[in-house]
Amino acid sequence: MYGGGYIYEDSGRSRQQEEQLQDDPVKLAAFEARIARGEKIEPGDWMPVEYRRQLIRLIEQHAHSEIIGALPEGTWITRAPGFKRKLALIAKVQDEIGHGQLLYNAAETLGKSREAMINDLLSGKSKYSNVFNYPAETWADVTVIGFLIDAAAIVNQVANAKGSYGPYCRALERICYEESFHLKQGHDAFIELATGTAAQKAMLQDALNRWWQPIMHFFGPPDKVSSHSEKLMQWKVKMASNDDMRNQFLEAYVPKIWELGLTLPDTLLKKNQETGKWEYSDPDWDLFFEVIKGNGPCNKERLNVRKWAEEHGSWIRKALMREEERERTALPVA
Ligand code: COA
Repeated sequence: MYGGGYIYEDSGRSRQQEEQLQDDPVKLAAFEARIARGEKIEPGDWMPVEYRRQLIRLIEQHAHSEIIGALPEGTWITRAPGFKRKLALIAKVQDEIGHGQLLYNAAETLGKSREAMINDLLSGKSKYSNVFNYPAETWADVTVIGFLIDAAAIVNQVANAKGSYGPYCRALERICYEESFHLKQGHDAFIELATGTAAQKAMLQDALNRWWQPIMHFFGPPDKVSSHSEKLMQWKVKMASNDDMRNQFLEAYVPKIWELGLTLPDTLLKKNQETGKWEYSDPDWDLFFEVIKGNGPCNKERLNVRKWAEEHGSWIRKALMREEERERTALPVA
């Protein structure tokens, strides 16, 4: 999946030296021609420094999001209503952690070690998705995450799986298979509450009202202020812009929510039949930037859990890394 286990190694050159070397216009033109032809770029291939840097940033953030994203749902495993929902939630949380592993591996092929990525997460240097900084207060919150946040993630991942960097695309393809099961279980739980008792429906409506704005934020800032989109789309890392993905999500899921008799907390939300695009109130982007800077309702709590896990798991990592002390058993001679 990751190009035969090839891991790019740091050349030891400074970033400036590297950029001078890499800015070779002939190599850049050949690289861009490969991308235009729809070829996949693999770890050992020549690539511009900025392509490598952008991919590390994006894949690393994605990996962190999977790991941190397991936390709000993980706290509901013991409280999920009934054995069937508990089983499904355990499997889902386990899958999300697996997605994190696949993505860390994909980012490692670009030359950043997993340890460095984890350190940057814990120090707050590296971001992860805004949506995981909100509390899952009720079971309805878990169903909104399982249905709508997984749906939003699938819109993004299905598009980007057709992108240019081989290891990331292959990881995304596999993730999408599993996410489509998550979406089904989330949709099933969502419908159960929406068609249940008045109290269940009210609980779901309340969760939907609280999660709507974070979900609108999920696709990233509007295209006109998105700093990375232009380059990433030119190099086919992002296969659709933030606004296009947001629109695709609204097109597919708003009708499903309205059909169930639920409402969304945006009086301007409607499809413009002439343009085919959805119109909506601008979400509070100042709030979005505060949340991704570390000032959301649960940022500290989420990172503290990860720090605790890192500290308490360090002894087993150390033990596993001590090559000379590993026990070896000779295979029996036939
Ligand atoms: N949560 C946290 N940060 C976000 C964000 C979100 N939902 N959307 C955008 N940002 C951050 C970006 O990381 C960037 O910050 P940085 O320069 O410090 O890294 C900044 O906001 C500007 O946004 P933009 O230029 O639009 O970023 P982008 O081109 O990377 O696009 C995504 C944002 C989320 C669409 C893109 O990173 C992506 O597709 N990521 C992979 C999928 C993923 O991570 N999904 C989340 C978990 S399932």
